Amino acid sequence: MSVFERLRNSKPFVKRYAAIFLAVMALFLLTACGSDVGETSGSGEKEQAAAASAEAAPTSEKTGKKKILVAFFSRTGENYEVGNIAKGNTHIVAEMIAEATGAEMFEIKTVKPYPKDYRECTEVAGKEREENARPELVGKIRNMADYDTVFLGYPIWWSDLPMPVYTFLESYDWSGKTIIPFSTSAGDVLTGKENELPNFAKGATIREGIGIRGKRAQEQPDSVRQEVLKWLDSLGFTKSQ
Ligand SMILES: Cc1cc2nc3c(=O)[nH]c(=O)nc-3n(C[C@H](O)[C@H](O)[C@H](O)COP(=O)(O)O)c2cc1C
Repeated sequence: MSVFERLRNSKPFVKRYAAIFLAVMALFLLTACGSDVGETSGSGEKEQAAAASAEAAPTSEKTGKKKILVAFFSRTGENYEVGNIAKGNTHIVAEMIAEATGAEMFEIKTVKPYPKDYRECTEVAGKEREENARPELVGKIRNMADYDTVFLGYPIWWSDLPMPVYTFLESYDWSGKTIIPFSTSAGDVLTGKENELPNFAKGATIREGIGIRGKRAQEQPDSVRQEVLKWLDSLGFTKSQ
């Protein structure tokens, strides 16, 4: 059984500390082995720009029934362990959740795209974290009141949530809403910061999230889907709800 599988089966508090360990390990690898990662093709810039200009507003029919939203931040381009990816690791998991729950999706996107080059991106993200930056986002969810449950997805960046996710959290009134976090990273873990989310998402209730190794989302989607479905089931979510 690999270290990541042992982590996946371990207790939440073990996962939390494991996240910190894996984060440090990942960043060590970033620095030490950066040149082993595949070349940046530069492709995907157009898609990012196009998506960035799109008006961001999941629409809802006024059925009176509260809806579920999957809001996620995810990056394409050169990434850790997976080379150049056309769809981000977190994006893949977000789609699985949306498909299983019938939720609508919203992609958290920054006005200024992050570099496609992995090392450059780690530098930009590291600086933003040091400065506790709040990068400007593209669009806003106009009908946020329609959702009572928001699955919130993000990659672990520097042992933390990417700064744009904090921008997102601080942009809405979360009173009466439930946030269910999910993340992808170098391990099957969450960041360990999830219990601090109500400091940014004022009024929100946080439920138990899931951490998935990004490489597995890309390369073993069927096994990840099974794991995600089991987790959703444990939270009481089925498509009909
Ligand atoms: C800027 C940056 C910082 C990262 N920091 C960490 C980290 O601290 N710990 C970790 O396990 N993985 C780290 N990673 C790896 C990502 O969390 C992982 O590749 C994730 O699955 C990427 O998801 P995405 O494709 O949805 O963006 C980092 C990646 C980037 C680009």
